[in-house]
Amino acid sequence: MRFEPAEGLTGSISAPADKSISHRAALLGAMSSEPVRIEGYLHAADTHSTLQAVASLGALVETQDGAVVVRGTGLREALQPQSAIDVGNAGTLMRILPGWLATQDGRRFTLDGDASIRRRPVDRIMDPLREMGAQLRAREQRFPPLHVSGTRLRAITYELKVPSAQVKSCVLLAALAADGATTVIEPTRSRDHTERMLLAAAAPIVREGSRLTVANVDELLLGDLAIPGDPSSAAFLVAAGVLVHGSRLLIRDVGVNWTRTGFLRILRRMRGIVLGDLEEKSDELVPHEPVSDLDVAHGALEGTVVEADEVPLAIDELPLVALLGCFAEGETLVRGAGELRLKESDRIAGVVDGLRGLGADIEATADGFSVRGTDGLRGGTLDARGDHRMAMMGAVAGLASREGVEVVGIDAAAVSYPSFVADLQAVCS
Ligand code: S3P
Repeated sequence: MRFEPAEGLTGSISAPADKSISHRAALLGAMSSEPVRIEGYLHAADTHSTLQAVASLGALVETQDGAVVVRGTGLREALQPQSAIDVGNAGTLMRILPGWLATQDGRRFTLDGDASIRRRPVDRIMDPLREMGAQLRAREQRFPPLHVSGTRLRAITYELKVPSAQVKSCVLLAALAADGATTVIEPTRSRDHTERMLLAAAAPIVREGSRLTVANVDELLLGDLAIPGDPSSAAFLVAAGVLVHGSRLLIRDVGVNWTRTGFLRILRRMRGIVLGDLEEKSDELVPHEPVSDLDVAHGALEGTVVEADEVPLAIDELPLVALLGCFAEGETLVRGAGELRLKESDRIAGVVDGLRGLGADIEATADGFSVRGTDGLRGGTLDARGDHRMAMMGAVAGLASREGVEVVGIDAAAVSYPSFVADLQAVCS
């Protein structure tokens, strides 16, 4: 699909529902003893994989007045599915769900997914789960399919080796049904939706600095949930508004949990104009997810440096930081982001090859990239390599380019943001 240079984006638009929070809502819903009503669940390929997964584990999933209702089996009562659980393209599902399944004494499960999932390592969750006593098997010790034989687990203290919210969440879910109180130490903060949702479900979870401790529970009572807009999906609209001359966009109901707004802070550092009521950084654990409208306007940008401790707070938006860097004065540098190579595609290679093909002055490093702003992009063709975020970055690049961009594989956007093209068209006209 071609994305032609745009004139000035205007109007207001609702951000699509948060993917991370939708995954967690469906999973914790399936683990709950009472029905959970989820308002504004994300209807996209990834989060449908999660609904199918929990249904195959015995949860009843239905739609009522637009809300998704999950009637779970309870914390220790997942059913053994007839066949392998297909996570599709969803890395979050692949890495979080085994934490719960590993505790299901006497039942066996297999998790598998698409070609991208089969290239993404799962040993990062196998290591802590094995310390808890889990019985797991994977292809070449580290790739899906992942086989889980449920058993009784014991509590551990585990320091995360990678700053990953998926690994943290996996261990926290396993801890709910393990013997004793489990502590996860996270040297670098990452998104905390699981912790907030557990607190909302009255689970005994506490944070002390970088230490999160959760004790086991008899049951989980989640109650009703409303899913905020996804700041990672909204980031594509934000970037489009900042880059296209003459733009002024209002993006409504965006989740502004501070562990997700790293991109907006980076953008502000680059002198980008984005107004909103962002949550302040805090060590206190709270049960709610704050929401704000974002008011975005076109303006000149300056280069910046993104260091390792900021990376997990903006991990999915780093391709957009590279794109912004093409339009910024001076150099933009991202360091400590080797994790990007393990996403739905190798996002360091994809960003560097993709943007260079559009005229960018960009280089890959071992753990990131450096871009020298060249007053914009010429345009050309960008291959999304099956990766939703690469596809959407290519589209935004097209709107801001001089000659337009042809995105090969724009369909991938349906993984997280099915109405992406329609939303862009609405603000372009
Ligand atoms: C996610 C965590 C991040 C992120 C992914 C969603 C989550 O992955 O990139 O898109 O919902 O927990 P890592 O935990 O691998 O950093």
